[in-house]
Amino acid sequence: MRERFRLSGYARFARGAAHVCAILIVAAANPAAAEQADTIRQYQFEPDSGRYRLALKEVPRPVAGAGEVLVRVRATSLNRRDLNILQSEPDPGDGTAGGIPLSDGAGEVIAVGPGASRFRVGDRVAGIFFERWLGGVPTLDMLELARGGNSSGMLSEIIVSHEDGLVSVPAHLTYEEAATLPCAAVTAWVGLFKRGHLQPGQFVLLEGTGGVSVFGLILAAAAGAKPIITSSQDDKLARAAALGAFGTVNYRSHPDWQLEVRRLTGGAGVDQVLDVGGRETLAKALEALAPGGHVALIGGLSGYGSDLPTDSLMWINATASGVYVGSREDFETMNAFIGKHQLRPLIDRVFEFERAQDAFDAMQDGRFTGKIVIRL
Ligand SMILES: NC(=O)c1ccc[n+]([C@@H]2O[C@H](COP(=O)([O-])OP(=O)(O)OC[C@H]3O[C@@H](n4cnc5c(N)ncnc54)[C@H](OP(=O)(O)O)[C@@H]3O)[C@@H](O)[C@H]2O)c1
Repeated sequence: MRERFRLSGYARFARGAAHVCAILIVAAANPAAAEQADTIRQYQFEPDSGRYRLALKEVPRPVAGAGEVLVRVRATSLNRRDLNILQSEPDPGDGTAGGIPLSDGAGEVIAVGPGASRFRVGDRVAGIFFERWLGGVPTLDMLELARGGNSSGMLSEIIVSHEDGLVSVPAHLTYEEAATLPCAAVTAWVGLFKRGHLQPGQFVLLEGTGGVSVFGLILAAAAGAKPIITSSQDDKLARAAALGAFGTVNYRSHPDWQLEVRRLTGGAGVDQVLDVGGRETLAKALEALAPGGHVALIGGLSGYGSDLPTDSLMWINATASGVYVGSREDFETMNAFIGKHQLRPLIDRVFEFERAQDAFDAMQDGRFTGKIVIRL
């Protein structure tokens, strides 16, 4: 196998392609055979003309070292961050080039390294976003390594992970559903429940129908809150209503959508906001906030930063929290809630592994609601 990596140019490609075909044929006949192959396929970020591209590589099968486990990845999902990384200018010093894309994925444990004891072969697991943030308040060191960015991600047939960087996934979810949880769902969970202390009956504002916001809707509705969600598309609002939205507002046909949101609360205002829009949404969202309300500062879909009207936060005794995903403990607490309420993520489209670029293109074109998944 070592000799394969000395082949150059077309010869290496042709041989790699033949080998991949062989793996696929064997895998189709006997799914277990793919788990035994001495090479695996994975995507890597490859610098290309001032951007990255997704390069499908054949690499040696990883080995579980001390404290590590091997996971046969069955599904991964996309977040806006993954698209942002792919479209960013390569920085040789930031650890992205050559790394495996996508923070989110789920699969089964197929091998356990020496001394690893948290999981057994056959367990269903997902990766956590910050592999070193296990609980409590994070140190800078814990936030330094983020899966799918400067630390290897999940878009690989098999990954090796320290056992601490994984959680068990809710039993009622498919791998595709479980793969949507690590970033968007944990972020929404932390924003609403850990930082916002969401209570039944509270009004919750969710901006747009992307990953974080739809998880916010599903979680808030399950908690007995009243989610109000915005979108640029009426058909997406109809899907959101079917998921339990108390109110919906089209932010294109209502440029002053915050007034409409407040109207839907009977004039009281919303108690919670997951602000994913950033520059274009934050000030308006604050206009819709009720006294004592909480806004989770999460995203920058329209750019980060704002002419933040700090006096409007002060007058109504509001609180604002910066939320950066969450810890393993947060993920596990959320999973217990998801299991208790038998919640299911909203998956818009599922792409095959070989069409990974199409999944990124689908996120770019914006015609999706909830999550985009890649199946392996
Ligand atoms: N802090 C964290 O830990 C964290 C975690 C996850 C994500 N994020 C950030 O949060 C943001 C959302 O991430 P995501 O993965 O959920 O994104 P996403 O799935 O790509 O969401 C895209 C959707 O957001 C809506 N949108 C876009 N621009 C908008 C605007 N100006 N106002 C209102 N809605 C708008 C659109 O919904 P409609 O089509 O319905 O209009 C769009 O389809 C991103 O900036 C991401 O980087 C932060």
